[in-house]
Amino acid sequence: MAVIGQDIDQAARIILNGGLVGMPTETVYGLAANALDEKAVLDIFKVKRRPSFDPLIVHVASLEMLHSLATGLNDSAQELLYRFWPGPLTLILKKKNIVPDLVTSGHSTVAVRMPKHPMALKLIEKSGVPIAAPSANPFGYVSPTRPSHVDKQLGDQIPYILDGGKCAIGIESTILEVSDEEIKVLRLGGLSPDLLLPFKGKITFASFSSSNPVAPGMLTSHYSPKKKFVVGNLIQLMEQYPEAAILSYTTFYPGRECYVLSKKADLTEAASNLFHFMRSLDEGNNEVIIAELVPPEGLGRAINDRLLRASAS
Ligand code: TXA
Ligand code: MG
Repeated sequence: MAVIGQDIDQAARIILNGGLVGMPTETVYGLAANALDEKAVLDIFKVKRRPSFDPLIVHVASLEMLHSLATGLNDSAQELLYRFWPGPLTLILKKKNIVPDLVTSGHSTVAVRMPKHPMALKLIEKSGVPIAAPSANPFGYVSPTRPSHVDKQLGDQIPYILDGGKCAIGIESTILEVSDEEIKVLRLGGLSPDLLLPFKGKITFASFSSSNPVAPGMLTSHYSPKKKFVVGNLIQLMEQYPEAAILSYTTFYPGRECYVLSKKADLTEAASNLFHFMRSLDEGNNEVIIAELVPPEGLGRAINDRLLRASAS
């Protein structure tokens, strides 16, 4: 098992020696490596069992670091990053040659984000290099929001997990591709689309598909628990699956294994609980998990996206 601790110097040394570290961010935990070290990046793909066509997000701690990786930022991209960085926003930008093709899966663009978690920012600053980090879960499984989640699945393959506690947002970053005319949401995430309304450009949403994903993370089946996961009307599903465990938005159903995302119907709280509860239910005694969608507003759209993809097979 990995060592779980708060020694940022040690984590930075591992990164600079070409190793991998579990890194807390405000969204989910990342599997971090030096983005400029091809061998280390290759190890990310190996440890995650991630297909090489699925590019990584590069994390930066300063605008200087951003400009070392990407070029040609349009006004819209600049406005968005001034407003939302550090935070749960990833921008798709034109890459510079310094970024290994392996990181971007051969694309001419690179995904960049400045995380808000103080430990992530310190780790990037101390290592002095941009950090590539996908979510620290085996490919296709639910993302981790606590150090123990990372340890359980990847702990035997990495030396160190930085313990930054429970992720405040609990759902991955929102990924945008922006031009001066259009803000294209490639992945719904921790930044509510409502917050984009004041910005210039028409907001559009990429649809996900299993055959021709716009972004590889848009594969229909993703974030999937190992158990059968069914989304629908809970009252009907409870009849259909009398034994099933329940993931409900606001209501506790007694007599069954039941997790409630937010008793007070708060979508921010629901997002922060979502992946932890999905993992707990996956480890429970029931063979089937039934769940309901949440109101499709604000962060609710990202939550529903994850629920629907978890239920796709
Ligand atoms: O919140 C997050 O974004 C977390 C934390 C660790 O920062 N990271 C994360 O990474 O969710 P990952 O690898 O699980 O998802 C990254 C997704 C990829 O699946 C891919 O779809 C998209 O980002 N992506 C990366 N580079 C891209 C590019 N050049 N063009 C389009 N999409 C890209
Ligand atoms: Mg992921």
